[in-house]
Amino acid sequence: MPDTASSMSPTITSMIRLDHMHVLAAFHRYHADSPWWRKRAIVHSTCAALEIHAQPEEEIFYPALATVLNDDPTLSKSRPEHNEMRATIGRLRTMGPENAAYDGLFHQLMAAVMHHVADEETVLLPAAERALTSELRSLGARMTRRRLQLLGERPGEIAVNTVGTFPVATFLIASLAVLGITRCLPKVTKTPARYLL
Ligand SMILES: [Fe+2]
Ligand SMILES: [Fe+2]
Repeated sequence: MPDTASSMSPTITSMIRLDHMHVLAAFHRYHADSPWWRKRAIVHSTCAALEIHAQPEEEIFYPALATVLNDDPTLSKSRPEHNEMRATIGRLRTMGPENAAYDGLFHQLMAAVMHHVADEETVLLPAAERALTSELRSLGARMTRRRLQLLGERPGEIAVNTVGTFPVATFLIASLAVLGITRCLPKVTKTPARYLL
């Protein structure tokens, strides 16, 4: 029997879709001719958002889906695709926007993420909504709590990236409000207007 907070939580599939939408919107704000500081802010905040999105997917969403999907090829390649994304993020963090390869590498990350998101939205999320109906809200509550932990581990990084966006934080605050646990927010989120641009 789900607890009250879980029954009021957004579903995990709606949370994943909203994350995707915010990350894709951040991609569209990146332009090769933008000032270096804006490019760096967008790249840093988007990379952090992708990491905080991918980890709970691997810990909560994919295992739940694996219980109802047998050897699904899209599910099987999801973790390796996350790992490729992490490798690209790692390379981006070793360079700055002044590097000639910076724009190309970020565009490579964008293309990989858009392909991955398309697979999740056309295959995995509909499959979850067909097969995990009664669990989608409790899984959403678990995902919110895990993201809160992950955000709390990197508040400095989030606070520094004030120019772009931090989509996970935006949605997290809304989710926590629904769950009635905003008192648990990390200190940085007490000034949300500073970075929820
Ligand atoms: Fe995703
Ligand atoms: Fe994913």
